[in-house]
Amino acid sequence: MIKTVTLNKTIAEKTILNDINITVNQGETIGILGPNGAGKSTILKIIGGLMKPSFGHVMIDNIPVKENNLEIKKKIGFLAHNSYLYEHLSPVENLTFFGKLYQVNQLEYKVKELIREVGLQFFMNEPVRSFSRGMIQRLAIVRAIVHDPSILILDEPHTGLDQQASRILNELILKKKEQKTTILMVTHDLAQAIETCDRFILMKKGVIIDDFVLENKNVHQLKEIYLRQVG
Ligand SMILES: Nc1ncnc2c1ncn2[C@@H]1O[C@H](COP(=O)(O)OP(=O)(O)OP(=O)(O)O)[C@@H](O)[C@H]1O
Ligand SMILES: [Mg+2]
Repeated sequence: MIKTVTLNKTIAEKTILNDINITVNQGETIGILGPNGAGKSTILKIIGGLMKPSFGHVMIDNIPVKENNLEIKKKIGFLAHNSYLYEHLSPVENLTFFGKLYQVNQLEYKVKELIREVGLQFFMNEPVRSFSRGMIQRLAIVRAIVHDPSILILDEPHTGLDQQASRILNELILKKKEQKTTILMVTHDLAQAIETCDRFILMKKGVIIDDFVLENKNVHQLKEIYLRQVG
């Protein structure tokens, strides 16, 4: 379970987040939506322990999140704008490196499986430096899940992916969802969001303006709510 308690973030006297209280139950898949600059990525970074709040705190499974806490890090898979990949290393080398950090079992087998899952098997020994944007994103996705995290944090995960890769990603998210992984996803793509998320949080100017469940998978309804609330 993730709980944010009165999260506030101020940078250079500018309020980025204002009293963010979110409770995410184990196994929920939540889409965080809102315009550019609303504070979505900032929330994810604070939950993931990559940024400190100015006030308030985050609890993950009743443990307070602090930067560089390995116990918390092992629980979280974070796909950010930055891929966290090493350009001079291949997919196999990158995943092996991160897998070792997290003490993953049967790593050699797992690395090959994950690479195959995102369709990069023909490039598994090529340096990432030569990869297209979509190929990097495919690899970044499996890097985030190499240690089977129980919480998955995805910041605009469909960015740069072609149709096939978007489908692979959605299937992967649905598989994780079946395994009761807690998923927080930020996206601007409402059609992709509706494929996997059941609950939505709308943000505007650093505050939560709506939090609702939508089980009918109706993208038109989601768009209507978004436009009505966010404009
Ligand atoms: N390091 C920083 N220094 C100053 N301002 C920052 C910093 N990081 C974020 N901000 C500001 O915080 C606000 C929220 O940024 P954030 O990246 O969380 O928005 P977002 O909702 O993810 O937007 P987008 O949809 O464009 O990704 C923005 O106004 C941004 O300018
Ligand atoms: Mg962002």
